[in-house]
Amino acid sequence: MAKSFLSLENIEKRFPIPGKDDYIAVTDVNLQIQKDEIISIIGHSGCGKSTLLNMISGLDMQTSGFIFLKNKEITGPGPDRAVVFQNHSLLPWLTVYDNINMAVKKVMPELSPQELRARVEKFITMVNLDHAKDKYPGEISGGMKQRVGIARALSVKPDVLLMDEPFGALDSLTRANLQEHLMRIQQNVKNTVIIITHDVDEAVLLSDRVIMMTNGPEATIGEVLEVNLERPRDRVALQEDPEYIRCREAILEFLYKKFAKEDD
Ligand SMILES: Nc1ncnc2c1ncn2[C@@H]1O[C@H](COP(=O)(O)OP(=O)(O)OP(=O)(O)O)[C@@H](O)[C@H]1O
Ligand SMILES: [Mg+2]
Repeated sequence: MAKSFLSLENIEKRFPIPGKDDYIAVTDVNLQIQKDEIISIIGHSGCGKSTLLNMISGLDMQTSGFIFLKNKEITGPGPDRAVVFQNHSLLPWLTVYDNINMAVKKVMPELSPQELRARVEKFITMVNLDHAKDKYPGEISGGMKQRVGIARALSVKPDVLLMDEPFGALDSLTRANLQEHLMRIQQNVKNTVIIITHDVDEAVLLSDRVIMMTNGPEATIGEVLEVNLERPRDRVALQEDPEYIRCREAILEFLYKKFAKEDD
């Protein structure tokens, strides 16, 4: 049977604890993701969101179960998946331009110098950083660094963009600005995006589906919410939209009634 674009099948992840039983972080995770879908994963701290993302990225391996991308099993990291972390992982000794240039050069060695330059510049423009392309990470703001991270991740043409609380460390205005960037880019580039967030509004605004995780240990997918809102989405107009309100309430109900957690 043909699999979905990205398919997680019976995923379990155990962490060995010396002298004790393994800690079962997540179990029985089954998820089918289509190409071009934007998926959010939301859940309380420690429920295994990063663990799941790390397994999809190939940085860590599940203890049992399978992950398939385009019918091929994921067994390690690869250029078909790019990750954006909460704390921008730019190389501080390279300029904005060179951070992106290095990534593209590595993944697309066949490009001519002109093609390489055009590609790097295209992605710098996409995140409105033309004016900062010769600056070093230490010379730009947190929001700008995160934009470089997104540009770099997308510049290598990944099949899947994985984001682990990409805007978590930013103030709310910068955060809103980056959400807009991401939505606009997605309209053009059409990637599969999986984004971990703690922010209910962010999850609804950005996603086609919101995956809600139960609390650990043995966390799993509790509910999946479909967000039936047209794109492009306007954050101000949405505040009054009954579908937006329904989605928001469903997530709040899940997180704070069904799976409330006191120490979060
Ligand atoms: N290397 C490890 N060894 C042992 N336990 C681990 C390891 N990595 C994660 N865990 C445990 O697995 C659980 C899930 O961790 P994970 O980092 O995936 O949570 P999270 O949902 O991303 O949380 P947060 O929202 O705080 O980032 C936690 O209880 C954590 O303590
Ligand atoms: Mg995490």
